[in-house]
Amino acid sequence: MSDARQTLTEIYDRQVQEGTMRPDPAQRALLPHLQRIGDELEAAAVRPKRFLGGLFGKPPVAPRGLYLWGGVGRGKSMLMDMFEAHVAIAGKRRVHFHAFMQEVQAGLDAARKTGVDDALRPVAADLSAGLRLLCFDEMQITDIADAMIVGRLFQLLLDRGVAIVTTSNRPPDDLYKDGLNRPLFLPFIALLKDRLEVIELQGPTDYRRDMLAGAKVYFTPADQAASRALRLLWHDLTGGREGGQPLRLTVNGRIVEIPDHRSGVARAGFWDLCGRPLGPADYLALAQAVRVLILEDIPHLSAANYNEAKRFVILIDALYEAKVRLICSAADQPERLYIEGAGSFEFERTASRLREMQAADWGRPD
Ligand SMILES: Nc1ncnc2c1ncn2[C@@H]1O[C@H](COP(=O)(O)OP(=O)(O)OP(=O)(O)O)[C@@H](O)[C@H]1O
Ligand SMILES: [Mg+2]
Repeated sequence: MSDARQTLTEIYDRQVQEGTMRPDPAQRALLPHLQRIGDELEAAAVRPKRFLGGLFGKPPVAPRGLYLWGGVGRGKSMLMDMFEAHVAIAGKRRVHFHAFMQEVQAGLDAARKTGVDDALRPVAADLSAGLRLLCFDEMQITDIADAMIVGRLFQLLLDRGVAIVTTSNRPPDDLYKDGLNRPLFLPFIALLKDRLEVIELQGPTDYRRDMLAGAKVYFTPADQAASRALRLLWHDLTGGREGGQPLRLTVNGRIVEIPDHRSGVARAGFWDLCGRPLGPADYLALAQAVRVLILEDIPHLSAANYNEAKRFVILIDALYEAKVRLICSAADQPERLYIEGAGSFEFERTASRLREMQAADWGRPD
């Protein structure tokens, strides 16, 4: 990156000095690796196109990317965001890996309808048009449809000169662990290891857990003060940046949209999630895709809003099983949310789970 601008390390050190960031040697040690990618991308962007290269549309060679992995809350997404914001090139994109793969699958469906032989090729061409840098947050592969195409997809993107930076909770060798047809997936792992630098972010601190330890996460009543508290928690948990992006999950061919999402934290109102005809598969997909859900305005429940209450129960079960952190505002204490009518008995379990999920050490361990 250009001399006149600060390096990532200088930016990081300044934030530590200003007190907005805690000093973390593991994070700091990683910055030169990101800096190297940024520098190479910026240098390639100003280099004049060679005549023949331009004539034959030969794509630039992508800088070697980065596969950054480690335990939850270590700062991987934060570092990637910082890097992505800093790289001064056009044609960069940051996207949640899950959302990206759904975009790819939707593109494949559309391409197949045109009867094209190799559907992945036009999809990769569309995705990489004008693109030099793709930053994926939270790479994980659980779906066989994704597992079977991701190797060729990445090869096509890399061939088109797109640099890839990705975060993950697992080392490459553990991706799609125990998945069906895993041997067919192994070339992807080899490709990752060959074309990306693989680095573990080994810091001892789970900053997200630290932030939430002892923090109030259940606010009642759901008034303006609660709303403000939720906004502040969102702000802290997403590294002080404003709005996120909608999270689009494809579930059984339908798209379910969660209004706001960033760095593993989703934010929605009760009616967004429980006022629509969503079912268990939708809530499971949501619970798999996020670490923290901020849910605003849980109302009193009764026979009058039986369907919404039923969905809420399913939502809480899904969040509970996946050990998602829930931060919410509600009209009342858990035990007083649903006190009479059909379903109130079953709600006792939900109320008890809502209590348990407020514990300081609630959340996914790895
Ligand atoms: N050095 C630091 N000082 C203060 N806060 C930090 C520091 N590093 C990270 N954080 C904050 O900790 C929270 C968790 O960081 P982040 O989301 O980047 O973790 P992660 O490694 O991506 O976790 P996951 O694997 O769960 O996605 C964020 O709110 C982030 O801004
Ligand atoms: Mg993350």
